[in-house]
Amino acid sequence: MGQLSNGKQVAIDYREKAPAAAHRDLYIESNGEANTEKSQLGHLAAGVPGTVAGLFASYTYAKLPFDKLISPAIELAEVGFSITAAEARGLNAIQADLKKYNTQTPVFVKEQGWKEGDTLRQPQLAATLKRIKAKGKAGFYEGETAQFIVDEMKRGKGIITLEDLKKYEAAPRTPHRFTYKDFVIVSMPMPSSGGLLLNQMMKMVEDRNLKSMGFHSVASVQLMTEVMRRAYADRAEFMGDADFYPVPVRELVAPNYLISRMKDYNPEGATDSKQIKPGKPLPKESEETTHLSVMDEQGNAVAVTTTLNNSYGSRTVIGGAGFFINDEMDDFSVRPGVPNMYGALGGEANSIQPGKRMLSSMTPTLVTKNGKPYIVVGTPGGTTIPNQVFQTLINLLEFELSAEDAVYKPKFHHQWLPDELVTEKGFPEEVKIKMKAMGYPMGKERSGIGRTELIRILPDGKLEVVADKRGDDSVAGF
Ligand code: DON
Repeated sequence: MGQLSNGKQVAIDYREKAPAAAHRDLYIESNGEANTEKSQLGHLAAGVPGTVAGLFASYTYAKLPFDKLISPAIELAEVGFSITAAEARGLNAIQADLKKYNTQTPVFVKEQGWKEGDTLRQPQLAATLKRIKAKGKAGFYEGETAQFIVDEMKRGKGIITLEDLKKYEAAPRTPHRFTYKDFVIVSMPMPSSGGLLLNQMMKMVEDRNLKSMGFHSVASVQLMTEVMRRAYADRAEFMGDADFYPVPVRELVAPNYLISRMKDYNPEGATDSKQIKPGKPLPKESEETTHLSVMDEQGNAVAVTTTLNNSYGSRTVIGGAGFFINDEMDDFSVRPGVPNMYGALGGEANSIQPGKRMLSSMTPTLVTKNGKPYIVVGTPGGTTIPNQVFQTLINLLEFELSAEDAVYKPKFHHQWLPDELVTEKGFPEEVKIKMKAMGYPMGKERSGIGRTELIRILPDGKLEVVADKRGDDSVAGF
């Protein structure tokens, strides 16, 4: 998602695609059961990768020569870098999976365990990056790298072919836009549910004077929870790759529709998710998503969210090429009623079809005022993403919190099903107690929800920037 200094807005979709050999029942075993191990771990979990195509599509707008842009990554892979404590913990947690889901031992396996400050060198990855440097997109989707991917698939019963790789293209999309008071909010369209969910939720609260209810008051938390429940019920029924399924975007944000959605809203108590069907015209959590918010002196603003799905993707490293392959296939609805790893449900709109992109929650978002970028924001966090962006924006636009507070104050999450309100560590106990008394089943508390990266442009042109301390995140200026 980006806005160029000339005002042009651009959304680049480089979501993975289902391989040509994929089909609706890919993860249904002969006994009729859905096998989510296969959609989440190992070779068959992988969609056709989109990142490299996406970077080249973005490169159309770049100022620096490609060689210069890719060289630091080659150096980090070749010479290595010293890992943080969190990275060491992450790698140690997947050692058994790395052994189970790989056909060749990757550099990430370390018998004695990783510790902070260890050097991680990735020579195979460096060679892959050099092929990309020399041949561009074809350095990944064709030739030696493509062959490494296909050979790996064959060794591990995956289904990505040379043809799937060669055919992969990133797609330019029209951003999902809507107004909120004096602001225009610009976010990701299908196949991400993010922009549409954000639109539905913000419109459902726009006229309800959240500001007077107050930040983290029972009234505002309860209203926002009910709004989340309704939007996520629609996600499960209506949202999926719009190239394959007629997602009724306009109908889902029609003012009368959203008013009717809130008709049974009761400020005194919880609505039961069983009573909230998707309108008429989705949690467990783990992490391997990255968000970047960028702004330059000329007024170009970019929000990028990109992911392998959960931590270390499918846990399978492509032999010879040295990178983890994603497990995005789990973002499809493997079968109606079977939750994905984030507990999200879905049906026909998000069923598996060859070449289709799986529904995402990624919500890279810009807020503009008088045509100029005002906020650049986004986060990882699976299905919590739209709700986090929603809260960050409401924290800024309604509760007038500082940028730091808007990001750091504890967040909450409701996704219709499972019918539970999840809160982050530090969320006010008295609000939790009152919400529970009003009939909200409380989910397990989470230690950290997402890692939000925020830029806000102040009236004097200065930037207020926050890199979420929930992760190893950082801010840099050049
Ligand atoms: O596209 C999606 O919605 C998910 N694959 C994102 C996964 C994610 O954010 C995991 N990281 N925390």
